[in-house]
Amino acid sequence: MQTATTLDVLRKRVAKLREGGETIALVPTMGALHEGHLTLVRRAREACDHVVASIFVNPTQFGPNEDLDAYPRQLEDDAAMLESQGCALLWAPTVEEMYPGGAQNFVTSISVSGVSEGFCGASRPGHFDGVATVVCKLFNQVLPDMAFFGEKDFQQLAVIRAMARDLDLSLPQAHSIIGVPTVREADGLAMSSRNRYLSEQHRAAAATLPRAMKEAIARIEDGQDVASALATLKDALLSAGFASIDYADLADSASLAPIASLNGEHGEAPARLLVAARIGKTRLIDNMGVG
Ligand code: PAF
Repeated sequence: MQTATTLDVLRKRVAKLREGGETIALVPTMGALHEGHLTLVRRAREACDHVVASIFVNPTQFGPNEDLDAYPRQLEDDAAMLESQGCALLWAPTVEEMYPGGAQNFVTSISVSGVSEGFCGASRPGHFDGVATVVCKLFNQVLPDMAFFGEKDFQQLAVIRAMARDLDLSLPQAHSIIGVPTVREADGLAMSSRNRYLSEQHRAAAATLPRAMKEAIARIEDGQDVASALATLKDALLSAGFASIDYADLADSASLAPIASLNGEHGEAPARLLVAARIGKTRLIDNMGVG
């Protein structure tokens, strides 16, 4: 696997990979890789001739109270993992290379209104503008045929799809931006770089999140009203030791508009249950399909 740290080298290496009309898949990451990321690389390899993975801890998607400096960085280990999965090229730019004008001084950030404000956007203002901006840059830098993202960050995926569609990027169709189902630990907890921050006790209690979500989904699918199924879900999390719940809502999986009832007129897309809750100091998110 080769590594590029400058845009010039990246473009030359991508052009080389493309020789003979070969296709490129992009897997954007912020590093601290786990099995979830490696699953993205494997899916990308099945779909395209070559995989380019990026590792960039993007400052513009961190809020002033979020600890950018504490975000785990382990480039050498990550590179070895990517190589073991057959990744052809690692794009690991510095902040200066990604934002030559300075991270506070980039083109007015790309804002995808409608899908960015609710859910995680409500407690992380500006977060999805930073995500949309850096992913737009990554798409323009690599010009991939397809790009792969984890469904675990479901709102992020909706933001990226809307951004690519509205800006007419080279891969705007839904079938070229692929959402890969969440990879889970044996007890159902969604894999996340943040799980490493959980104490032993909180790690054990964290498994209540996917369990309570599945129970809520079963109740909703059995006809129980959404509000009371969600109230039971929140009670289960608080009883298990979660400190607070940022949101636990049912939404249209494309527009992320709230859904009050499965029988309501909420459009064509299936419903999605999305939850964010804090245990100790760690904020966990998860989502699952409903109906
Ligand atoms: O999901 C992530 O790791 C990041 O938000 C992404 C998509 C790589 C953009 O920085």
